[in-house]
Amino acid sequence: MGLSLGSANGLIDDQLEKLAQLCDRYQPAMVSDHLSFSGNAHDRFADLLPLPYTNAMLDHFAAQVDRVQQRLGRRMLIENPSCYLAYAHNDMDETAFLARLVKRTGCGLLLDINNIVVTTGNLGGTAQDYLAAIDPDWVGEIHLAGHATEIHDSGPLYIDDHGSPVGDIAWDLYRDFIAAHGPKPTLIEWDTEVPDYATLMAEADKAQSILVENSHAFA
Ligand SMILES: [Fe+2]
Repeated sequence: MGLSLGSANGLIDDQLEKLAQLCDRYQPAMVSDHLSFSGNAHDRFADLLPLPYTNAMLDHFAAQVDRVQQRLGRRMLIENPSCYLAYAHNDMDETAFLARLVKRTGCGLLLDINNIVVTTGNLGGTAQDYLAAIDPDWVGEIHLAGHATEIHDSGPLYIDDHGSPVGDIAWDLYRDFIAAHGPKPTLIEWDTEVPDYATLMAEADKAQSILVENSHAFA
């Protein structure tokens, strides 16, 4: 969804009502949105813009998640974004923000493993440490995707473009996570430079085989 939960003016009532109607009609298994904002009261963008991870933003974002969950009468999942900058006035890191958000609102997480690779590659830290800070019981769905890499004088810049196969690092992290915590619903995201159907399905089949390999241990 694109409710822009982190916008300072909060989510727009009309959009929430339309989402409620959509959920009533199709009864989706899961509803999710991003830990981000996409504009203000007057302008909305397609971009998922980064939030400051402050106590004030946590109060604000949790209130928006509460509004959505109360209106829909269901738990929603919040997806970790790809980040290209961090705010100097952050009070906590992203995993701490997510943990406190889950505890306050009862929401779940949509864990985008490629986004973790992109964010930690751009901002520092390791994807392994990030994943170790996530309680697997919070995770309702996993996303996998490819990303682009630009080489600059200052170092590599990782861009979450969903335009290539899932990278080896993301596959390894995914395999380890599923082996340790059991199967989770998984989506391959590939929405630019979309390949032929067989190539796309091979990616889905690869994820499916990892899920099946590990299903017996958690049955
Ligand atoms: Fe995603």
